[in-house]
Amino acid sequence: MKYQEFYNRSIDNPCEFWKEQAVQISWFNQPKSILSKDQYGYPQWFQDGQLNISYLCIDKHIEDGYGNENAIIYDSPVTHSKEFITYNKLHSEVARLAGGLEALGISKGDTVIIYMPMIPQAIYAMLACARLGLIHSVVFGGFAPHELAIRIDDCNPKAIITASNGIEIERIIPYKPFVDEAIEMSNHKPEFVVVYDRKLGVEIPYKLRDIDYSELIAKSVPVESVSVESTHPLYILYTSGTTGKPKGIIRDTGGYATALKFSMKHVYGVNEGEVYWAASDVGWVVGHSYIVYGPLINRNTTVLFEGKPIKTPNASTFWRVISEHNVSVMFTAPTAIRAIKKEDPNGEYIKKYGLSSLRYQFLAGERCDVATLNWTEKHLNVPVIDHWWQTESGWPMLANMCGVELLPVKPGSASVPVSGYDIKILNEQSEEVEAGVEGYVAVKLPLPPGTLLNLWGNPERFKAGYLNRFPGFYFSGDGGYKDEDGYVFITGRVDDIINVAGHRLSTAEMEEIVSSHKAVAECAVFGIHCDLKGQKPLGLVVLKSGEELKDKVIAKEIINDVRHEIGAVAAFKDVLVVKRLPKTRSGKILRKLLRNISDEIEYNIPSTIDDVAIIDEIKSVYKTNQIGIHKNTINHE
Ligand code: COA
Ligand code: AMP
Repeated sequence: MKYQEFYNRSIDNPCEFWKEQAVQISWFNQPKSILSKDQYGYPQWFQDGQLNISYLCIDKHIEDGYGNENAIIYDSPVTHSKEFITYNKLHSEVARLAGGLEALGISKGDTVIIYMPMIPQAIYAMLACARLGLIHSVVFGGFAPHELAIRIDDCNPKAIITASNGIEIERIIPYKPFVDEAIEMSNHKPEFVVVYDRKLGVEIPYKLRDIDYSELIAKSVPVESVSVESTHPLYILYTSGTTGKPKGIIRDTGGYATALKFSMKHVYGVNEGEVYWAASDVGWVVGHSYIVYGPLINRNTTVLFEGKPIKTPNASTFWRVISEHNVSVMFTAPTAIRAIKKEDPNGEYIKKYGLSSLRYQFLAGERCDVATLNWTEKHLNVPVIDHWWQTESGWPMLANMCGVELLPVKPGSASVPVSGYDIKILNEQSEEVEAGVEGYVAVKLPLPPGTLLNLWGNPERFKAGYLNRFPGFYFSGDGGYKDEDGYVFITGRVDDIINVAGHRLSTAEMEEIVSSHKAVAECAVFGIHCDLKGQKPLGLVVLKSGEELKDKVIAKEIINDVRHEIGAVAAFKDVLVVKRLPKTRSGKILRKLLRNISDEIEYNIPSTIDDVAIIDEIKSVYKTNQIGIHKNTINHE
């Protein structure tokens, strides 16, 4: 069937369409109710179905006779090690860890935080939680203890599962001490901290609540999967919102499992038994959906890569992994390709490896610039597919559904709506705009299965943030436009969220930290263009009188504060001291104007500005400090 017909069926008759997809997975209790609504009219999928996603990812394949096939290939250039983990081995590890957690008294509905590097035990921990109906919340390792503490206080975990350490380029990340520090700061105190010792010689500080991971599983009894309701929360995944407090996205179980199975075949075009690789991190939604649950539900071998696209040891790593493990479909962020392209502009490393196994290269996480797309296509010689989605959706909303029909690629566009997503471009009045006109990207309700259920502990914020702005629609927070052929071009966030190296960050959160420095009178933090990372944060600060002479010291302190509070992942490295900030007469700081000046985007000076002369002052500060789009240009084609 061709894309358009297939897509139309999903929109015209969602119940029939998703009922057909739901039978592609095994339920303990097949759902009779396909689509129902909660008290706010928000969709609930497969409400009376019962299943377990850990069973789908492991036991089902063993029962079908695939126990000796590889479930995971762990490839870790940072430790120079590789491990091939079969479904049988995965079963043994997960069932024993689940048995250990059960023995600690953790049971269905309890929450567990997982704060781990990219090692197999991170996947075992997620699947062990799912096996027992525990709700996991994986926190990305690049976040500092303070961020971890915020999440501990929001989801009140009974336990935290962590590891001795992670490894960044030339740096050990002390995960266990970070967990201890976070628990010091948080009001809620988890009962247990389960610690996996990587045996890399890193000292692990001991606390009474600590449980050694290896000892726990050595004495535990393996357990079977419990049956959970389709709408039982599988996980909470925190993501940046427009305030300092991150939002805990809740994912259901049955809708998610159905959607992921569907997407592996129809969006990614990958067959069962093939090797699939998403070069992301289990701490992000890409990791949840396409390192762990999607490929394992689909009986693919998933690659768990602990490294970087460059410097581990060089820009050939990605191509080595594809070639060595026969990867059929790969997914990464455009930033990773830009980093490789910078080191190896002519793709010399690519020529050294046979990449005949690769059918499609997917990109997402941030806007993909045309130069990066063209370079990747030219050197990999396979379709390069930019696709768009977000933590909230859990799986792609716009894509070239190559498993249905490969449509022509249009550089700059993340292609067309994926089945189930009725995507509209709206104006302020909730009216659909014409082709070519930019507006707000929204999805007409009901959303398909697998998308967010709610926000943890905050249904009001969920409604206010996503449902109230355009009644009858889910609002994505992105701007964009459609062309005459229905291809959608995402132009970027319309709120305070920025995307740094494919990592979603809140400038409002950074601004809160910057403004709390004792020498700062006022400040603005916003995202500016970065050739490598897509965007990077820039802070402009006005100092309290008498503090100006120490501007360099203060800037350094502010940078350290943000790194200490949010973490290295914020990549907050630029602070400029200015005399004043442009504001409207009512006192609102004109952040968009500040960004547009830096990025050399055409701008109008609003008539409400309180003093026009300030624009020249800002330009002069940018010039002196080499801030501006033309100052950090790398070799675009
Ligand atoms: N644990 C601890 N620290 C981490 C971390 C982790 N899991 N991940 C990143 N960091 C740190 C980095 O070490 C770096 O610290 P530094 O400022 O001391 O150098 C900082 O956070 C910023 O990291 P990053 O933005 O990743 O920059 P980088 O310079 O280390 O690497 C790239 C640049 C392009 C190689 C890297 O950003 C990359 O691989 N990007 C791909 C993005 C991706 O996969 N996104 C997922 C969404 S699909
Ligand atoms: P996250 O929730 O971390 O996955 O980030 C989601 C946000 O990243 C989206 O709302 C977009 O702003 C941006 N994004 C993700 N993929 C793309 C893409 N292919 N093109 C443009 N922006 C993207």
